[in-house]
Amino acid sequence: MTDDVARGSALLEFDALSAGYGDNPIVRDFSARIEAGSITTIIGPNGAGKSTLLKAVAGLNRHFGGSLRFGGTAIEQLSARERLQRGIGFVPQGRCNFPLMTVRENLELGAFTRKRADVARAMDGVIARFPMLGAKLKVLAGNLSGGEQQVLETAMVLEAEPRLLLLDEPSLGLSPGNQDQIFETIASLRSGGLTVLVVEQNAHGALQISDTGIVMELGRLFMIDSAAKVISDPRIKVAYLGGSAAD
Ligand SMILES: Nc1ncnc2c1ncn2[C@@H]1O[C@H](COP(=O)(O)OP(=O)(O)OP(=O)(O)O)[C@@H](O)[C@H]1O
Ligand SMILES: [Mg+2]
Repeated sequence: MTDDVARGSALLEFDALSAGYGDNPIVRDFSARIEAGSITTIIGPNGAGKSTLLKAVAGLNRHFGGSLRFGGTAIEQLSARERLQRGIGFVPQGRCNFPLMTVRENLELGAFTRKRADVARAMDGVIARFPMLGAKLKVLAGNLSGGEQQVLETAMVLEAEPRLLLLDEPSLGLSPGNQDQIFETIASLRSGGLTVLVVEQNAHGALQISDTGIVMELGRLFMIDSAAKVISDPRIKVAYLGGSAAD
């Protein structure tokens, strides 16, 4: 296959990408390379355009200019469905399951891109990874805890067997213990070969499991570097990590 990507090469390449809504570009002139098999965390203030950037990768908003390559192929003109079929899975910010349907029904929906014969295998795969879901198949999704719902939503996207997983604020509203679990899950997904691009307000927790950190401000790239360098940058410590520059 021509678009096979070895670990260490770029799976996703932004080149001067601008994207937004209606007549308004929100993300402007954004360039970055996301290495295959890496975890990248995006941080930045509210309204910086972090969710807009992930939606631009998933194909859920308007492209204003620049290019976006996935596995070496330009995808900026493809629909959200085509991008999902090519291996881009997106878990949006906030709850996104069907709360009045059972866990089993949600998992059946999550497998909608799979051939009928593959649905059971896709469900078995995510239940093997997250046994909690198997124990709660008959429970209404809306009655799961916040952490369990986050696992369900991630599982629904994993059923499509993505190569790139986009996660928007997966730890939002979770207890510290559940946040740790989400970060452990993300790290284990990467061990399984997935590339992960995650937006997080828990900057410290997310950067600790990441290879690369991206800081966005006012719709633009402010900084991209190794996660270790982003964590120890004095400006970032003061703005996002609750420290003083001297820490
Ligand atoms: N569907 C939309 N239509 C029009 N404008 C939007 C839409 N979604 C977001 N915006 C605008 O885009 C800007 C960036 O929003 P975005 O949600 O990308 O920020 P964010 O960095 O994810 O913030 P937060 O940390 O609060 O989630 C904001 O000014 C917002 O009002
Ligand atoms: Mg957001």
